[in-house]
Amino acid sequence: MSPPKTAPFAEEEIDLLNRVVGTASPVQRAWLAGFLAGLDASGAAVLPHPAAPARPAEPLTIIYASESGNSEKLAGDLAKAARKNGLKPTVIDMADLELSALASAKRLVMIAATWGEGEPPARAVRAYNELMGEGAPRLDGVEFGVLALGDTAYAEFCAIGRKIDERLAALGGKRVVDRVDCDLDFTEPAARWIGDAVKVLTPPNAGGRVIEVDFGAKAGASASTDIVEAEIIEHVDLNSSRSDKETIHLALSFEGGAPAYEPGDSLDLYAENDPTYVDELLKIAGLANDEKLRADFIKSRDVTTLSLKTIETYAASTGHQYVKALLADGQAKEWIAGRQLIDLIATFPISIDAEKLRALTRPLAPRAYSIASSRREIGDEAHLLISAVRYDSHGRARKGVASNYVAERLKRGQHVRVKLKPNRHFALPAPDKDIIMVGPGTGVAPFRAFVQERRATKSSGRSWLFFGDRTFTHDFLYQLDWQDALKDGALTRMDVAFSRDTPEKVYVQNKLWQRRADLIQWLDDGAYFYVCGDAKAMAKDVRAALVRAYADVKTLSPEAAEKAVTTLEREKRYLQDTY
Ligand SMILES: Cc1cc2nc3c(=O)[nH]c(=O)nc-3n(C[C@H](O)[C@H](O)[C@H](O)COP(=O)(O)OP(=O)(O)OC[C@H]3O[C@@H](n4cnc5c(N)ncnc54)[C@H](O)[C@@H]3O)c2cc1C
Ligand SMILES: Cc1cc2nc3c(=O)[nH]c(=O)nc-3n(C[C@H](O)[C@H](O)[C@H](O)COP(=O)(O)O)c2cc1C
Repeated sequence: MSPPKTAPFAEEEIDLLNRVVGTASPVQRAWLAGFLAGLDASGAAVLPHPAAPARPAEPLTIIYASESGNSEKLAGDLAKAARKNGLKPTVIDMADLELSALASAKRLVMIAATWGEGEPPARAVRAYNELMGEGAPRLDGVEFGVLALGDTAYAEFCAIGRKIDERLAALGGKRVVDRVDCDLDFTEPAARWIGDAVKVLTPPNAGGRVIEVDFGAKAGASASTDIVEAEIIEHVDLNSSRSDKETIHLALSFEGGAPAYEPGDSLDLYAENDPTYVDELLKIAGLANDEKLRADFIKSRDVTTLSLKTIETYAASTGHQYVKALLADGQAKEWIAGRQLIDLIATFPISIDAEKLRALTRPLAPRAYSIASSRREIGDEAHLLISAVRYDSHGRARKGVASNYVAERLKRGQHVRVKLKPNRHFALPAPDKDIIMVGPGTGVAPFRAFVQERRATKSSGRSWLFFGDRTFTHDFLYQLDWQDALKDGALTRMDVAFSRDTPEKVYVQNKLWQRRADLIQWLDDGAYFYVCGDAKAMAKDVRAALVRAYADVKTLSPEAAEKAVTTLEREKRYLQDTY
C-alpha cells in the first residue's frame, strides 16, 4: 500500500514517499514506523541525516620541498582543502622524508620549489638525492601529482618540480594530475591546481564536498603577514665612502606596532623600478609618450627580467624573424645570460604597442631581506641590511631593482611597503644551547637579530660568529655592534675573514677550517650551526669545510665525515638561509 493522494503532503512529496514506501519490504516498513515514532517521542524538530556508515577517510600524502616557505604554505592550503573534501592528509617536509613512506602512499602530491641554479631547496637535498638514486622504492599504482614553484628569470625554471614529476612516473607512479610550473606570481595558478588536484584525488563517495579554493581571499590571512607601510627612520651606508660596495642599514618604524617577527624571519619589500631605466625602455620601444604605461611600469611590472618565455612571447606577438631564428636555433637560453628586457627590444627593434610591450612583463615581485634586529631589544622597529646590486654586462651598467630603490631613491622620512615572511626553519634554539653563526656580507643580518635576542633574553648559551667581507677598514658591517656584544657577553667569540686584506684571499670557510678543533668540540657539545648569505659558492664551501673538519679532527673517512654533517642536518642543528 502506498500513501493516498489525501495525505498531508505536496504532490511531488507523495511521489517521493511512494517511491520509498511503495517498494519497501515489510521489514523496512516496520523499521520506518519505529523510526518515525521514536522521532516524534524525542521531540526532534528536524529530521536528522541518517548516519553514514563509518568509513575511514582516504589518505593523501603531501610532501613539500621548500626553502622560503611558499611550497610549505601551499602544502598547508592543499591539506585544508583535502580535509574538507573528506580526505585524510599527512603533510611531510621533504627534510624529514623517509623514502619508504612513498611506497606505502596511495595518493601522493609533491609541491617543490627550485633553488640555486636548478637545485633543490637546501633542506630537501638529502631526500631528493635518495629519490633520484638507485635505492628509491617502486611506486607502482601510487596516484600522484606535482606542483612546481620557480621563477622564469632562472634558466632552470622549475627544474626540481619537473625532475620529481619525471622520477615519480619512472618509478611506476600513475600521474593523475598534470604538473603545473608556477612563476613568482603563483597564487592563482597554484590555487587552481590545488582545486583540480583535490577533485581528481578524491575517490567517489569520500564523504566531503568539492570546494572552490580561493587562496587570494583575505579572510584567513593573519594581520601580521599583511602588507604594511613603514617609515624609514634610519638610512645609513655601512661601507666607508672608499669601499666599492654600498650596504644600507635601514631602520623601519611602524605605526601601530611592528609585525610580530622573530629572529630569523625576513621582510618582503615592495620596490619600484628606476624611472630612468623605464624611460629608456619606453624610448627604445617608441612609447616614450605613454604616461599611463610609464606609471604602471615604474610601480608594478617586472620590466628587467628577460626569460625564455619573454622571448617566445615577443617572437609570437611581433613575428620578428631574427627573434624567431634565435629560438629556432636553440640559442635563446644562452643569449639571455646577463641580459634584460631592454636588450631584447634594443637588439631586435620592431613596432610594438603598449599592450604587447606590457604583455612581455610580469608583476613586479617583492624582494626578501633578513630582519637584522630583535623586537625584544629594539621595540617596534625592524632593521634591514641591504647591499646595492650593481654590475656591468654586455656593455651596459645594470642595477638591481629593489636594492637600488633602497640605496638610491629612498630617504629618511619616506615610507616603504613591507610584509613579514616568517621562517620557522631558521629560528634560535633554547636559550641554553650554543650557536655558531656563519654570515659573510649581508648574511650577517639575521645574526644581529640573534645576538640582540640572546642579550634581551639573557640566554646562557654561548654564541660564536664567523663574519667576512672584502676589507676590515671599509666593509666591516656592524663592527661596533659586535664589539659591544663581545664586551657584554651576548657574543662569546668572533672570527673574521677579510678577503682583500691579505695577498692570499681568506674566506669564512678558511676560518672555520683554522678553528676546526674548537668548532667540532662546540658541535659535540650540542651547538647549532647556522649559515646565511650567498648560496652559489659560500654555503657549499662552508658545508664542505665542515665535512673536512670532522674528517680531520675525529679521524673519520670522508663518508663518515659526510654522515656526521648529514646527521646535524637531520637533527635540525645545521640550518641555512641562503640566497
Ligand atoms: C630569504 C632571503 C633573504 C635575503 N636577505 C637579504 C639581505 O639581508 N640583504 C640583502 O642585501 N639581500 C638579501 N636577499 C637578496 C634580496 O632578496 C635580493 O635578491 C637582492 O637584494 C637583489 O635584488 P634586486 O631587486 O636589487 O636585484 P634584481 O633586480 O633582482 O637583480 C638581481 C639579478 O641580477 C643578476 N645579477 C646580479 N649580479 C650579477 C652579475 N654580477 N652578473 C650578471 N648578473 C647579475 C642576477 O640575475 C640576479 O638574480 C635575500 C634573499 C632571500 C631569498
Ligand atoms: C637564490 C634563489 C635561487 C632560485 N633559483 C631558482 C631556479 O634555479 N629555478 C627556478 O625556477 N626558480 C628559482 N628560484 C625561485 C624560487 O623557486 C621561488 O621563489 C619559489 O617560490 C620558492 O619557493 P619556496 O618558498 O617554497 O622555497 C630561486 C629563488 C632564489 C631566491
